[in-house]
Amino acid sequence: MFKVAVIGTGYVGLTTAIGLASLGHEVVGYDIDPSKVEQLKAGILPIYEPGLDQMLTDVLATGKLRATSNLSEALVNAEFVFTCVPTPQDEDGSADLSYVISASKEMKDLLAPGAIVVTKSTVPVGSASQVEDAIGRADVHVASNPEFLREGAAVIDFKNPDRIVVGARSTEVAQRVMDLYAVIDCPKVLTSQPAAELIKYASNSFLAIKLSYVNDIAALCEAAGADPLEVMHGMGLDSRIGDRFLAPGPGWGGSCFPKDTRALASISAGFGIAIPLIDAAIVSNEKAHKRVVDRVMQELGGSLVGKTIAVLGLTFKANTDDTRQSPAIAVIERLIGRGAKVVAFDPIVSAYSLAGLKVAASPTAAASDADALVVLTEWPEFGKLNPADLLTAMRGTCVVDTRNILNKTNWQAAGAIFPDLKNS
Ligand code: UDX
Repeated sequence: MFKVAVIGTGYVGLTTAIGLASLGHEVVGYDIDPSKVEQLKAGILPIYEPGLDQMLTDVLATGKLRATSNLSEALVNAEFVFTCVPTPQDEDGSADLSYVISASKEMKDLLAPGAIVVTKSTVPVGSASQVEDAIGRADVHVASNPEFLREGAAVIDFKNPDRIVVGARSTEVAQRVMDLYAVIDCPKVLTSQPAAELIKYASNSFLAIKLSYVNDIAALCEAAGADPLEVMHGMGLDSRIGDRFLAPGPGWGGSCFPKDTRALASISAGFGIAIPLIDAAIVSNEKAHKRVVDRVMQELGGSLVGKTIAVLGLTFKANTDDTRQSPAIAVIERLIGRGAKVVAFDPIVSAYSLAGLKVAASPTAAASDADALVVLTEWPEFGKLNPADLLTAMRGTCVVDTRNILNKTNWQAAGAIFPDLKNS
């Protein structure tokens, strides 16, 4: 087992620190924010991530995970130092490396000889060499180990990853990092630093492009009188396409896809390489949000002024509390922008400050006197709602289920109208 320091205990740092401690390593989590350190010490998780709280309790009990706001204490014996600090998006879409670089400069004189600094945050191609320059020590190596965890499935993905990728200047250094994951049985990719950095961006952007294509095809299906889910099923049986990530929705969102697609477009432009598919996927995604609003507006007589719309779901997908870049919020903003009042319910998010939006305590409360009901997040419990309860509370009968989570037959039997999208 190895001694590991994790710098930054946000979403990525927390899952990294707890995950590595669960593999038996001696992990020290560090954060500049003492309140985050105190929360971690007390076993309190600031994020909703199924199963992570139990893992945290276990690794605190065994003493495998400790936390400190003293950087030198965190680094003193660390053989591996994971940097999990934010890489926010700049105005031009590029990733802001300032936190990564400043953390590297703070660490440089505190790192043990032979330590390996491992970049976990999603960073642009070429970042590893910038970190090497910031540290400036021949006896300290830098590796890239991008994370592929999905929010809401982080524990599952940590324990059963499709692959683990490590990039370093030498195979020996990459292998040392990969040895941290020796107990995990999965394909392991030892590669260069730029390749590792690109695998992350290229994977996320490909998934976003795939979803934009799915949503555009779903719109075409409706216009052509085909059931989108039947078309997606038929497509997914082709093993080259695969049946995952084929669920049409109100568009994609979250803290990664919107940031990573824009960052990759910016990175490739920086190398003079245009990737129009990324730009097209971003435009397509905006149109997916717009189509939801058009559909409601068409059904409500062409205007949303004075209308009340009930919305189920605020988070960017089910099984998370994250509303960052949520398609649900993007659609709600558009509904409000066209004059509607919106009353939303979400199983996890009980408050969200946005002019024109009220958050209700239950689906039925959200549906009260609503002219239309729009499902924007695929929380399983929405599929179990009693149609009569909501339709009775509503003023109208229009239902737009962007996630195909409701039993359409039952809802139609109870009087719901699922409007088709005419051309928009
Ligand atoms: C993503 C990547 O999957 C993960 O590997 C990376 O580490 C971080 O970014 P995440 O952002 O948590 O993970 O969400 P993901 O499950 O990929 O979904 C992204 C968006 O696509 C969500 O808005 C989701 O609702 C949407 N989606 C996903 C669909 O609309 N349809 C699908 O079939 C799948």
